[in-house]
Amino acid sequence: MPRHPRVAPAAAGLSHEVYSALALRARERPGPVYPLHVGDTWLEPLPAARAEAQRSAEHPRLHGYAPVQGEPALLAAILRRLAARHGVDVDPACLQVMPGATTGLAIVVGALLAPGDELVVPSPFWPLIRGIAISRGCTSVEVPFFTRLGERGFDPEAALERAIGPRTAAIYVNAPNNPTGRLLPAAAADAIAAVARRHDLWVIADEAYEDLVHAGEHRPLWRRPELAGRTVVTHTLSKSHALAGARIGYTHGPPEAMRAVRALQFHESYCAARPMQFAAAAALDGGDAWLAEARAAYAAAGRAAAAAVGAPPPEAGTFLFFDAAPAFAPGEGLSGFLERCLDAGVLLTPGPACGRDFETWVRLCFTAVPPDALADALARLGAVLRR
Ligand SMILES: Cc1ncc(COP(=O)(O)O)c(C=O)c1O
Repeated sequence: MPRHPRVAPAAAGLSHEVYSALALRARERPGPVYPLHVGDTWLEPLPAARAEAQRSAEHPRLHGYAPVQGEPALLAAILRRLAARHGVDVDPACLQVMPGATTGLAIVVGALLAPGDELVVPSPFWPLIRGIAISRGCTSVEVPFFTRLGERGFDPEAALERAIGPRTAAIYVNAPNNPTGRLLPAAAADAIAAVARRHDLWVIADEAYEDLVHAGEHRPLWRRPELAGRTVVTHTLSKSHALAGARIGYTHGPPEAMRAVRALQFHESYCAARPMQFAAAAALDGGDAWLAEARAAYAAAGRAAAAAVGAPPPEAGTFLFFDAAPAFAPGEGLSGFLERCLDAGVLLTPGPACGRDFETWVRLCFTAVPPDALADALARLGAVLRR
């Protein structure tokens, strides 16, 4: 059947307004609008890791292609980091530098799932994973999870088990979690491992916030020996090292998965930006003190934001996720509430972007703007919440 002027169904099912349908209106509004709807970090990166610190004199053909697997200097820095942080010697052949975790996860999903397959996604979740599944012709099956941890009677294994069907191919787990700021308790990790093994599923472990833990201990799923052969892990420097615009991440996993990941990356993006691979290597090699300071600043921001909205402080990450229903005006829904927040100068993410069960919830990024701006944004938001 002729296609023009229709576009592909998978693309037609996607929106670029996931984080806020109000962002365009925000631009027309007089006065400041604090963009707490997109996950970002306001700090400048370590000086050696900035774009302007990369020089052709040091790296001949700085702006040429990099090897598809990654620049040797960055691959070496990543292997050092994985060994130092996790005591794990990842097989160098099973490591792949990616142009950011968003592309990386699209590639991983494309490498592991076939069109028509289902991806189980414990919710609430990072808003783009649902669209990534759609873009690959797959379906995400949402399982309310992170907001239910600790709830009396909640059985994580039974909840996941109910989501498994004949087309389930993988479980995507992002912990520390965007948007809840929660770590994965051992019982929940046990449940994921049991279900993945029982049904022979891949596990896609998204470690975007591994370096931003504010309280408690993060025990990465991928370190569990019983999951080693079935877990593909993605990491990014976007949040940890304030390098979101650099678009650098990396992935590792079992050889058969990584061969497919590399082949797909070869065809979809070839390589990550070469100058920023040198920047990322500098961040990983020399950025530990910078990271400790950044983490402390973000943790303080998280506590301030939690106090302002009456939520518990986040265990990790850069977000708060809370039910805003008590602050709705009579007859008002989530969109009306979000408009009132915008009128007050604050953009928030609608909860349904993170899962269909969160119709009255909102996500707030507390690291998107510097402390003074955050204080102003929180005061404005507090006035809306107290109505
Ligand atoms: C959980 C999670 N995964 C992946 C990403 C994508 O990161 P990147 O900037 O490397 O594409 C993000 C970014 O917000 C995230 O929060």
